[in-house]
Amino acid sequence: MQKIIYLDNAATTWPKPTRVIKALAEFYNHFTGSQGRAGHGMALKASREVFETRELVAFLFNVPNSERVIFTANATHAINYALKGILKKGDHVICSGFEHNAVFRPLKYLESISYIELTILDCNKYSDFDLSAFEKSIKPNTKAVITTHGSNVNGSILPVREIGKICKEKAIIYIVDAAQTAGFIPIDLQLDYIDILAFSGHKKLYGPTGIGGLCFKNEIDIETLLHGGTGSRSESGEHPPFYPDKLEAGTPNTLGIYGLKAGIQHVMNTGISNIQKEQLELIIFFTKSLESIDEVIVYKPLSFDERLPLLSLNIKNMTSSDVSLILDKDFGIMTRAGLHCAPLAHKSIGTFPQGSVRFSFGLFNTSEEIEYTIESIKKIIKQR
Ligand SMILES: Cc1ncc(COP(=O)(O)O)c(C=O)c1O
Repeated sequence: MQKIIYLDNAATTWPKPTRVIKALAEFYNHFTGSQGRAGHGMALKASREVFETRELVAFLFNVPNSERVIFTANATHAINYALKGILKKGDHVICSGFEHNAVFRPLKYLESISYIELTILDCNKYSDFDLSAFEKSIKPNTKAVITTHGSNVNGSILPVREIGKICKEKAIIYIVDAAQTAGFIPIDLQLDYIDILAFSGHKKLYGPTGIGGLCFKNEIDIETLLHGGTGSRSESGEHPPFYPDKLEAGTPNTLGIYGLKAGIQHVMNTGISNIQKEQLELIIFFTKSLESIDEVIVYKPLSFDERLPLLSLNIKNMTSSDVSLILDKDFGIMTRAGLHCAPLAHKSIGTFPQGSVRFSFGLFNTSEEIEYTIESIKKIIKQR
C-alpha cells in the first residue's frame, strides 16, 4: 500500500494523538449524556467534563471567566456568533486583506443588506499589516475590528497585540480569528488586548472535527442568536440571559468537547514552544529547499521566526489542482489546491483566481516526509 503523507493540517489535523482517539472511544464506550441536563450519573459526568474543558480553554487563552467560553461547531460558527451578536445597524467594521471566508462572507452579507459599513485593509504579499493605515481607517462609528491571527494561505502572523492595543485605546471591540494559531502560538486574551477570540478545536488543538469555540471578556455582551433548551430555567419561555447558556442552545457536541479536552492536554503536555520549534525547523527547511528550485514560486511570510508551519506554492505552467492531484495519486502526498476559502488573501499575494498548492504541517510530520515531498516535487517538474 502506498504510504500516506498528510500535509493538509491547516484544513484539519491528522492523525490525532492516541490520547484523543482513546478519549473518543471512551466517551461512547463508558458514558454519554447531554451536559447540564440532570437526572442520571452519566449526564452528570458529561456536565463535569464539559465544565472542565471550559476551564482548560479559559486557562489556555487566559480568559478571565470560563463562563465566557462557548463551545461551537467550528471557528466559522464562533465568528458568526461574534459578528452577528455584537453588531448593530450603522456600525463600521474593519478587517484585513487576509481574511478567510469565515470572516469575509458574514461581513459581506451584513454589508449587502446595508446593515454595516465595511473597510477591508490592503495587505501586501507578505501580509504586512499597515498599522498607520489601520489607524487612519477608524471612523467615529467603528464598532469592531476583526483580523485573522495567522494566514491559512502563506502562514504569516498578523500583529495582534499591536492591533488590539490601538482598539483598546479607541474603545473598539477587537475580534481575533485564531483558527490557525490556537495551539501553535500562545494567545493571551488579556496581554494581547483581544476582546473576542474564535478558535477551531479540530486544527492545532487536535480535537475531532465539529468542535470549536468562542471566548470573550466580561465586558462583552453577545446577543443570543439561537434560542432553545439549555437544561436551565426550563420553566421559562425566555432563553436564559446568563453565559454560557445564553449562547449554547440544544444538545452540545459533548463527544467533541471531550475529545478537545484530550487534544488540549496533549498540546499542553508537549508544550507549545516544543511544537513550534519542531514544525518551524521543518517549514524553514522546506521553504529554503523549494526556493532553490527555479520552476517553483513560493508564497511565504518575510519572517522565518514568526510564521505558521505552512506555505503555498505554484509550479510554473501547471495548475494548482493538477499538482495536488499528481502529489496525491502518484506520491501519496495530501495537500490542498485552489483558493483555500481565502480569496482576499490570494488577491493580496497575487494568486487570484488561480490559487496555489498549500502544504501544511502538523505534530506528526517528519523530516523524511518533507525530504520525500521535495523529491516528489522535483520529479513532477521533470515529468511535466
Ligand atoms: C484562518 C481561518 N479562519 C477560519 C477558518 C474556519 O475554521 P473552521 O473550519 O473551524 O470553521 C479556517 C479554516 O481553515 C481558517 O484557516
